[in-house]
Amino acid sequence: MKTIIATLVIVSLLAGLGTALFIYSGVYDVSASTPHSRLLEKILEKTMHASIERRARDIQVPDLDSDELTLAGINDFEAMCVGCHGAPGKEPGPAGQGLNPPAPKLGESAAHMDPAELFWVTKNGIKMTGMPAWGATHGDEELWPVVALLTALPQLDAEAYAALKHRAKGMGHHAHDEPAAGGKMHTENDDNKRAATADRSEPEPEPEPEPEHDHNAHSH
Ligand code: HEC
Repeated sequence: MKTIIATLVIVSLLAGLGTALFIYSGVYDVSASTPHSRLLEKILEKTMHASIERRARDIQVPDLDSDELTLAGINDFEAMCVGCHGAPGKEPGPAGQGLNPPAPKLGESAAHMDPAELFWVTKNGIKMTGMPAWGATHGDEELWPVVALLTALPQLDAEAYAALKHRAKGMGHHAHDEPAAGGKMHTENDDNKRAATADRSEPEPEPEPEPEHDHNAHSH
C-alpha cells in the first residue's frame, strides 16, 4: 500500500513538473500562422459546439421569416461580418485571411446551426478565437436582423446575394456605412446626412463625402 501511494505521489509531482516546464519553456507555438494540432482542434471543436448548444437552448427566437428583417440585416452583415467570414461571391478581407482558426463561411454554418445558436454566437463571441462578442456593443434588436440574413445565406449564390444587397440600400443600422455609389433608392429610415448629400443629386449623383471605407480591413 505504501509503495502505491509513494508511486502516485511521484507520478503526480512529475506530471505537475512536466506541465510547468511545458508552460514556462515557451516550446508551445502560439502563432496564428500554424494551425492547432488535429487532436487539439477536435477537442476544442467538440467543446465549442457542446457549449453553444447548451447556452442557446433557452433563447426565444422571434419570427425571422420576413423580407424586411433580412434586408435590414444585410448591410449590417457587410459592415460587421464579411471582413472575416466573407459572403457569397466575396472572399474575407486581409484580417480574415490571417485568422487561425479560420472564420467559416456562414452559409455553411447556417445550414447546420439553428437560429438560436447563430444568435448566441453572434452576441457572445467565442473565446481565444477572432470571433467578437457583438453583444458588447449591440442590443439584441440590432443582432436579430443579422441572424435573419444568416438563415437566408444557404440559399444565396453570389448573384442572389448581390441582388439582395442592392435592394437593401439604406436599411439596417449600418446603412450609413454604405458608399452611396449612384444610390437613389432610400427608405424612410435612411439617415439625413445621406439624404442631404446623395438623394438630391440625380441624374448624376455627387460623390460620397466620406472616403470609401474598406470594411474588410477592420471591424466597425
Ligand atoms: C474579427 C473576425 C470576425 C468577425 C468580424 C466576425 N467573426 Fe464570426 N467567427 C470568427 C472566427 C475566427 C470564428 C471561428 C471560431 C472557431 O471556429 O473556433 C467565427 C465563428 C462564427 C460563428 C460560428 C460558426 C460555426 O460554424 O461554428 C458564427 C455563427 C459567427 N462567427 C457569426 C458572425 C457574425 C454574424 C458576425 C458579424 C456580426 C461575425 N461572426 C463577425 C471571426 C469573426
